[in-house]
Amino acid sequence: MTAGVTPAPSSVLLAGEHFAAATLYLVAGALGLVWIAPQLASGAYPSPHVAGITHLFTLGWLTTTIFGALYQLLPVALGASLRSVRAGHVGFIAFAPGAGLFAAGVATSSTVLHHAGIALVTVGVVVAVANIASSLPRARARDVTWAAVAAALAFLASTLVLGIVLLHNLHTGFLAEARLRVLATHLHVALVGWALMMIVGVSHRLLPMFLLAHGADTRWTRRSLMLLGVGVVVLTVALTLRVGPLAWLAVALLEGGVACFVWQARAFHRARIRRKIDVGMRFAGIALGFLIVSALLGPAVLAGGVSHPRVATAYVAVGLLGGIVLYVVGFFYKIVPLLAWTVRYRDRMGKGDAPTVAQTFSGRIAHAQLVVMTAGVALLATGIGAGSTHVARCGAVLFLAGVILFVSQIARVAFGAANAG
Ligand code: HEM
Repeated sequence: MTAGVTPAPSSVLLAGEHFAAATLYLVAGALGLVWIAPQLASGAYPSPHVAGITHLFTLGWLTTTIFGALYQLLPVALGASLRSVRAGHVGFIAFAPGAGLFAAGVATSSTVLHHAGIALVTVGVVVAVANIASSLPRARARDVTWAAVAAALAFLASTLVLGIVLLHNLHTGFLAEARLRVLATHLHVALVGWALMMIVGVSHRLLPMFLLAHGADTRWTRRSLMLLGVGVVVLTVALTLRVGPLAWLAVALLEGGVACFVWQARAFHRARIRRKIDVGMRFAGIALGFLIVSALLGPAVLAGGVSHPRVATAYVAVGLLGGIVLYVVGFFYKIVPLLAWTVRYRDRMGKGDAPTVAQTFSGRIAHAQLVVMTAGVALLATGIGAGSTHVARCGAVLFLAGVILFVSQIARVAFGAANAG
């Protein structure tokens, strides 16, 4: 059994409720993507519709999944028992509906909805961050994963503050021409500081387990985290003070951070004992490819500025949907079936009549999902690049089809009979 994800009994329900809600948000986000595809194709990224749907992915899917995964990983991978399982549930009860209300409120420009949503999201984030942060001192070892979780939490808190400023601006317009710079700061602090640094830190612990890799050079994770963390801070200063050369330094640091992460993943991949790559790791591999594409677009976004909004839109869409969302889907395939299997078949363990974890979902459907989602992101990006509503919408529909396949898999893992497909 994979030690890093063996369920901590007290927090299985907690993780499960987060994963269930996150999956629903992924469906909502994918439906919304079909709706906003024309706006993406015209590069209208600052539109309320785009911002609303974006948060179905970033708060609803991504942040909820990360919270659920941390509640599992803290005790079993870092040896840090969760400060309060009850606070975990309280945070969830606020955050899960809050993310939806907030996203709907922003998308429809409804003040009542986004006020209710932001209040609940704030409670949910503050409770989760406080609970996880106060569990960290209990960890057995303060290694690079531990440091990444701590740094990512700080970036999430900053994301919330910047998000509230941006939300206030949507009513009052007080930021005036500074809005797009604050928006750029918010989305980099969120996507790089919170999501990517968390991914880099957690991958350091889980990739060697998932790939059965031994003896890889593991120094690249630390380098990646340093470069990404410093890069986000330098970018924030550069955008706030409007210092062009500093922004280019930030881009160089961020590119270096992504490169070190990819290099670390490659080192684990090369040092693996298990030659066959399973579908979860294939998702992660494809996601790294999209991350590289997004990173390559970064300098073009800085050079083009606001006069090339479709490049900026493609940069975020490829990084978020192709890089981060697909990577997390891959890890979901590794973590969730194992958790569900342990809960469902614990009593039959060793009696010979329990299915294997891999038999609780269909490998064929998972591979079909990977093909469809990859094609979806690629088409969406092509549609945005070419300014074609039709192509962008086709990409979004393919992405949605992949998400529906994914949901059928998760439902089978949670409730269905095992199969050998
Ligand atoms: C924690 C609570 C959050 C709040 C209150 C918040 C608020 C906002 C607001 C109001 C906007 C629109 C700004 C504008 O158009 O002027 C925005 C944009 C954005 N946020 Fe957040 N946000 C939060 C969390 C996150 C997280 C966790 C992520 C990513 C992991 C994220 C990623 C983004 C992105 C990518 C955009 C740009 C969307 C677009 O192109 O329109 N946000 N956020």
